[in-house]
Amino acid sequence: MLERLQAMKDQALADLTNKDDIVALEAWRVMYLGKKGELSTALRSMGSLSQEERPVVGQVVNEIRAVLEQTFETKRSQVLQKAANEEERRNQLDITLPGRTPFLGAEHPLQKVIRRIEDIFLGFGFTIEEGPHVETDYFNFEALNLPKDHPARDMQDTFYIHSELLLRTHTSPMQARTLLARQPELPVRIIVPGRVYRRDDDDATHSHEFTQMEGLVVDHGISMSDLKGVLLTFAKELFGEHQQIRLRPSFFPFTEPSAEMDVRCIYCGGDGCSTCKHTGWIEILGCGMVHPHVLTMGGYHEEGITGFAFGMGMERIAMLLYGITDIRQFYMNDLRLLDQFTQIAR
Ligand code: PHE
Repeated sequence: MLERLQAMKDQALADLTNKDDIVALEAWRVMYLGKKGELSTALRSMGSLSQEERPVVGQVVNEIRAVLEQTFETKRSQVLQKAANEEERRNQLDITLPGRTPFLGAEHPLQKVIRRIEDIFLGFGFTIEEGPHVETDYFNFEALNLPKDHPARDMQDTFYIHSELLLRTHTSPMQARTLLARQPELPVRIIVPGRVYRRDDDDATHSHEFTQMEGLVVDHGISMSDLKGVLLTFAKELFGEHQQIRLRPSFFPFTEPSAEMDVRCIYCGGDGCSTCKHTGWIEILGCGMVHPHVLTMGGYHEEGITGFAFGMGMERIAMLLYGITDIRQFYMNDLRLLDQFTQIAR
């Protein structure tokens, strides 16, 4: 019996030396020191021993238990210490490591121009409205003085969803929507940025999907000189204080009279270059005095209430400002283009 105990003790101590994690240690403890472990089993079998043997064996068992417990505790605290040290090493911050350069996104050039133009008009006291891209035939055409069969409908090739529903071909339907929503309130002073859609073949200057900004001002006694003053101030804010503009007569069914506005070529200053096709001028928007029919259909009937409206292409202006020569560049998400805008302040 004593020999067996001694052998068990040697075995237990030998086993313990290669236990180096807390789970293995616990298994060891259960096996040798647990209630059903080897030592307890030995104690329980002492009933079969003689009177003389019992105290001797008892004492040996207790000694062995003490040795095993002690060795176990020492081993356990070593293992715990080692784990703690490793944990600490893992958590240590190496301040000599080179940092990671954060990836800087850039505002898309189109968005940049939209925001810049919005800021200018907000400064004039305009507010920003947005409208539905899927529009009714009524708001896209009829409420803008373009009845069915009107020849001017051909000016805009339309994506129809069905005979009464379409993708808006311009932001002008928001003139009609805003008037109806606001009447009889005055003044109305809004801009409407947003996507528009036309059945165009895509090339360097055409896209079937592009961005416009509409403007509408309605109040008592608004005149053509208000239109000109606002648009000239806008052009100066956008292109520089010496910017000149000119208005050429044009036609839109929803404005009367109608005009197209040119700015002095921002590249050659008017001397003539390939961008302005040697005319010295670049067209940037359509405008005019709101047609009386549009005002009446919008719920403004009173004599003396007049207004002006304008609409311009955002891509076209961004192309001018940033020297982008192909409108498709705006939609291709080519990082080589976009990266150039990380550094450009608004
Ligand atoms: N909606 C016109 C277009 O798409 C532009 C415009 C807007 C003209 C407002 C006059 C007044 O071409």
